[in-house]
Amino acid sequence: MDEELLPWLCCPTCSSALDLRDSRCDAHGEIVAGRLHCGCGAVYPIRDGIADFLGPPRPPTIAQLTNELPATAWAYERLWRPFALTLLSGESFPYQRELALVTEWVDAARGGLFVDVACSNGLYARALARALRHAPGHVVGIDHALPMLQEARQRARAAGVRVSYLRASAQALPVASGAASGVTIGGSLNEIGDLDACLREVRRVLADDGRFVAMTLLTARSAVGRAVQGAVSVGGITFWSREDLLQRFRAAGLHPQRDEQHGIVLFTLASPCREDSDGKSHPAVSGNR
Ligand SMILES: C[S@@+](CC[C@H](N)C(=O)[O-])C[C@H]1O[C@@H](n2cnc3c(N)ncnc32)[C@H](O)[C@@H]1O
Ligand SMILES: [Zn+2]
Repeated sequence: MDEELLPWLCCPTCSSALDLRDSRCDAHGEIVAGRLHCGCGAVYPIRDGIADFLGPPRPPTIAQLTNELPATAWAYERLWRPFALTLLSGESFPYQRELALVTEWVDAARGGLFVDVACSNGLYARALARALRHAPGHVVGIDHALPMLQEARQRARAAGVRVSYLRASAQALPVASGAASGVTIGGSLNEIGDLDACLREVRRVLADDGRFVAMTLLTARSAVGRAVQGAVSVGGITFWSREDLLQRFRAAGLHPQRDEQHGIVLFTLASPCREDSDGKSHPAVSGNR
């Protein structure tokens, strides 16, 4: 975890600022050990560079439980992720294309705090850090599976990019309200659990001119696709139609600005919106998007 992140952190229980104690940094200047104390009495340990806001693992679904396994964390970017979008979209979709879209839509180059929620091995987090290289700011990757975060941290180091990793729930982000220039969620809304609570958290942490970019899997159109999705839904994976998903964004105060569909893969860009007295929602900030 990087010291630069500290002013942007808050207690996920009471939202107060956190106080770092007994910290130890390594040769790279990363905080590798210590404790984050809150006035409410909560204490969050930092071990091996990862701050833990959750305590013992308690994933509620089979899909989430699978991500707690070290074997899944090892295999994720080695065996599945490089091919995932090409398989799911039915067209050639290498990392280069996906990451260019995500970093451009979220406008990482302008700097500030960028949060990759449910980051797994940190693919988007590393891309954001590369895009941010020449601007002031920081990238934080958040996931509730420790093995995923450990793998993510090693990958960021090997790639020579600076990313902080936190173990926390997508429904209770330890990030101060309005702190984030951008939030990304790559393929994780489908297994996040309480979607609306997660989207409300995204809305809360985003600055008024912030951007939210999500890559989400939609309900398949073919009978075979629907049968497969029906089977995996037993494990806690959910799929929506484009319209239903965008409606859930709006209900959370996130105004869809742009979207692009490839097979069952939907990329969306949304920005915070406010509701006027007429009950209609409008972007919190109008600008050149
Ligand atoms: C499909 S993978 C994410 C892929 C990654 N964003 C990427 O683009 O490579 C889903 C991840 O979401 C995490 N996850 C699921 N539910 C979560 C929750 N409620 N809070 C935090 N992380 C969650 C899992 O641990 C897993 O690492
Ligand atoms: Zn607290």
